[in-house]
Amino acid sequence: MVSRVIPVEDFDLVIFGATGDLAHRKILPGLFRRFVAGQIPETSRIIGAARTEQDDDAFRAEAAKAIVEFAGVKKNDPDLVRFTGLLGYTAIDAKGEGGWKALKARMRKGAVHAFYFSVAPSLFGDIAERLHGHGITDKHSRIVVEKPFGRDLETARALNTMLAQHFREQQIYRIDHYLGKETVQNLMAVRFANILFEPLWNAQFIDHVQITVAETVGVSGRGSYYDKSGAIRDMVQNHMMQLLCLIAMEPPYHFDPNAVRDEKLKVIRALEPVEPSDIVRGQYQPDGKEPGYLEDAENPDSRTESYVAMKVRISNWRWQGTPFYLRTGKKLRARTSEIAITFKEPPHSIFDDTGAPRANELVIRLQPNEGMNLKVMIKEPGPGGMRLVQVPLDMSFADALGPEGADMPDAYERLIMDVIRGNQTLFMRGDEVEAAWAWTDPIIRAWEDGKQRPEPYDAGSSGPEEALRLMHRDNRRWREIRA
Ligand code: BG6
Repeated sequence: MVSRVIPVEDFDLVIFGATGDLAHRKILPGLFRRFVAGQIPETSRIIGAARTEQDDDAFRAEAAKAIVEFAGVKKNDPDLVRFTGLLGYTAIDAKGEGGWKALKARMRKGAVHAFYFSVAPSLFGDIAERLHGHGITDKHSRIVVEKPFGRDLETARALNTMLAQHFREQQIYRIDHYLGKETVQNLMAVRFANILFEPLWNAQFIDHVQITVAETVGVSGRGSYYDKSGAIRDMVQNHMMQLLCLIAMEPPYHFDPNAVRDEKLKVIRALEPVEPSDIVRGQYQPDGKEPGYLEDAENPDSRTESYVAMKVRISNWRWQGTPFYLRTGKKLRARTSEIAITFKEPPHSIFDDTGAPRANELVIRLQPNEGMNLKVMIKEPGPGGMRLVQVPLDMSFADALGPEGADMPDAYERLIMDVIRGNQTLFMRGDEVEAAWAWTDPIIRAWEDGKQRPEPYDAGSSGPEEALRLMHRDNRRWREIRA
């Protein structure tokens, strides 16, 4: 199966923070891969901008090194040489006047202009102001803003207000990289391009939904950032929320940026406040070989959670009575992200009870082993009566789609190309981010006001015992965390 690569328009992309980790790991390798795929015109320019004083050649060498490391290409790959020819560099003082005129001089008339803010949020305002003040941006320019977008409703609002002074909403691309993942976009395809699921997609037929994003990594190396966030700010307010929205939203009238985002916003606004008894927080413990959370965070008194599980209710006609269970954590048994939809049992069974589970279950595996698994009941073969057994209809996208199915483009590749194309469907709108914080804030405030410490859990486990009880209480159980 060959997918069509449609080249984007000629562009100038400025990456603020071009010497940083995100640029090295994701942005530059992602651009390189799109270039090799033929999606980026050879005339386009990618301009690194950061504090470090260096010239174009030094930045080209730095970028090449990062691409070799993170995109797995050889140093002397001819594509890499061609790609680095697109790169340039301007040293910039985000808080002063140095470099801005030189940057302006580099921007070409007629090309799409995009500015990627891959810097600490505290610099967003300075950069936006100077871009505007120096006449580098106009009403067609696009800006890309990385997470975290605020740390609560108040700061997110202030950020939105500040950006709105210089840019219209249509120019602002707030990244949530989960939306760029192929399998996350696939949630919309599965739901809205098949007639099969949608008629059953509601509280009448769905017993509950589990959304799991489990990681094996800890927070070592980024403890000081993470300790101020915790799982709720780092994963729930953004990535998990987006997954929840895509599973729960009404069909948009069209796959159009505002139509999709309007429907997501309605879900967020319909979220009920979460009862403290419906949340479990955890912290991973040292395991003899590796340090625990407190050591990784370099904060022995930390009450920040590296794990959270919660029961979420959506107050609308479609979902009244169907709980959504969310859990995410670091240092768990396996790296796996999946959404499991457990349907209700048939209202009446014509068969003798065999003890086999009878509820259909649809599991959408987001990563790794991307695919879908639908559990269905069939007759167990052989004579001796009608015995039933549950079997999986299992599809791996890699098998179904051939080599291209296995070669999922990184989220950033898709998202950066969407910025150049001017398509905001997979980016968060300002009101969406604010609504997500409005729901998350009271949870965080209650924790900050309370004295309760997160529950300890073993590194390499499935999370704290308390989280199991959250499910048992409702006569349900978490799916096993396994790769
Ligand atoms: C980031 C979080 O946004 O997403 C990290 O800050 C987390 O803590 C990461 O590890 C997970 O992303 P992915 O793409 O590896 O699932």
